[in-house]
Amino acid sequence: MRLAGKRALVTGAGAGIGRAVAARFAREGARVVVNDLNRDSCESAVASIRTAGGEAHCLVADVRRQADVEQLLERAALCLGGLDILVNNAGIEIVRPITELTEQDWDALMSVNVKGVFFGCKHGIPILERSGGGAVINMASVAGLIGWPLLSAYCASKGAVIQLTKALAQEYKGRSVRFNALCPMLVESDLGQRFIDGYNAYGIPVMDALRARQVRLATVEEVAAAAVFLASDESGFVNGHALVLDNGGSSG
Ligand SMILES: NC(=O)c1ccc[n+]([C@@H]2O[C@H](COP(=O)([O-])OP(=O)(O)OC[C@H]3O[C@@H](n4cnc5c(N)ncnc54)[C@H](O)[C@@H]3O)[C@@H](O)[C@H]2O)c1
Repeated sequence: MRLAGKRALVTGAGAGIGRAVAARFAREGARVVVNDLNRDSCESAVASIRTAGGEAHCLVADVRRQADVEQLLERAALCLGGLDILVNNAGIEIVRPITELTEQDWDALMSVNVKGVFFGCKHGIPILERSGGGAVINMASVAGLIGWPLLSAYCASKGAVIQLTKALAQEYKGRSVRFNALCPMLVESDLGQRFIDGYNAYGIPVMDALRARQVRLATVEEVAAAAVFLASDESGFVNGHALVLDNGGSSG
């Protein structure tokens, strides 16, 4: 098992990518705290990990709220006896032309996708250091690397996550915490479906564009497999990297 003895917290892990990451971490021997805003999905993710023989705990918190995140990190470390892996995964999307994007839309998206990651890093790093060091994985996107129509706020938020990750790798160079980002293209999840529906609502055949780029949607398990690598000691010399998961879709 590649994460035996590790203690992990995954935010936004009641559904989609985060849920798959938490489940795979548990299968790899990690003890996991599952966070989500939604208590039912958080508890359901924990129940399915336990049914499969893993150890998991549910902590409900809203990553937009600094007090929530600070308490989440402290309670996760208390629950697991320390923390080795932090996955700042919670995120939301808005598919809208910029002229229709309101200030409230912008702030709502940034508060989850960027401020939530900032809060996770700010309050997670001291705990990881106290626990003997560890790995931070921030969920970015290919949208943080290349532009997409109707995703201006989302692209800006994911670009910020990638740069935040790289800046922290510089700030903590030579110390015990590593920082990497994951950059999937379109993934099979509720959010992935909302992207497709959002584009369809504006008459943009996103699936055609996608097929031209990455051929098919990624599975949540494919993202979880990459997260295991970045969380494990196998990636001990990988720091400040943005790992693209798109079947080569953004490579040419
Ligand atoms: N699905 C894709 O195509 C895709 C592609 C690239 C990157 N991503 C990124 O991956 C991450 C996960 O996406 P997903 O597809 O699993 O989304 P999802 O909507 O399927 O699941 C996200 C989970 O996060 C939770 N959440 C939302 N806001 C929260 C908050 N404020 N605090 C705590 N939890 C909150 C939701 O309740 C939900 O359970 C996001 O950061 C997303 O931007 C997704």
